[in-house]
Amino acid sequence: MRVLFAILVSGVLILSIGYAAAQHHMQQDHMDHGTSATDTREFVHLPPQLVEHTIANMRDHLFALQQINEALARGEPEMAGKIAEEQLGMSSLRQHGAAEVAKYMPQGMQDAGTAMHKAASRFAIEAQNVGVTGELKPALGALGEVMAACVSCHAGYRLK
Ligand code: HEC
Repeated sequence: MRVLFAILVSGVLILSIGYAAAQHHMQQDHMDHGTSATDTREFVHLPPQLVEHTIANMRDHLFALQQINEALARGEPEMAGKIAEEQLGMSSLRQHGAAEVAKYMPQGMQDAGTAMHKAASRFAIEAQNVGVTGELKPALGALGEVMAACVSCHAGYRLK
């Protein structure tokens, strides 16, 4: 009887350890966007003034997302599209001095930047379409793709 009890207890123990390990694993999967304990992002060396310039640009990017979201909430999709195109889209490249920074970036990072600019321009088109179709979902989906481009570059690269 006592032996049986011991076997039962150790069985429960093994199960719960397994469960805890699985949970830990799941949490890591969720947080694997550059925030896990081991930083696997590639360091990209830019001249110091370009680091500051790029990081300041990033804050503008986030500000643009806020403005886009607010314009959508006000029922002004055309305005949202205009902000996206001017601040994040293909039209924003020169304003951001992209060419100067791009030559220091590894190819993968350049591609991530291009993906973001293209996604923003696609969103701008979808946002214009809302005015015609009244259908917001495609625009929201396209905005999600813009954010996915932010997330994927952040997961791969760091400047500091
Ligand atoms: C081509 C790559 C790339 C893309 C695309 C990108 N970022 Fe970044 N971003 C970076 C890097 C690299 C850093 C610096 C991270 C570090 O060194 O820790 C950064 C930093 C930031 C920061 C922190 C700024 C600070 O003051 O420290 C914000 C906010 C940010 N990005 C927002 C965005 C948003 C919003 C988007 C999308 C609309 C975006 N980024 C797209 C590469 C990118």
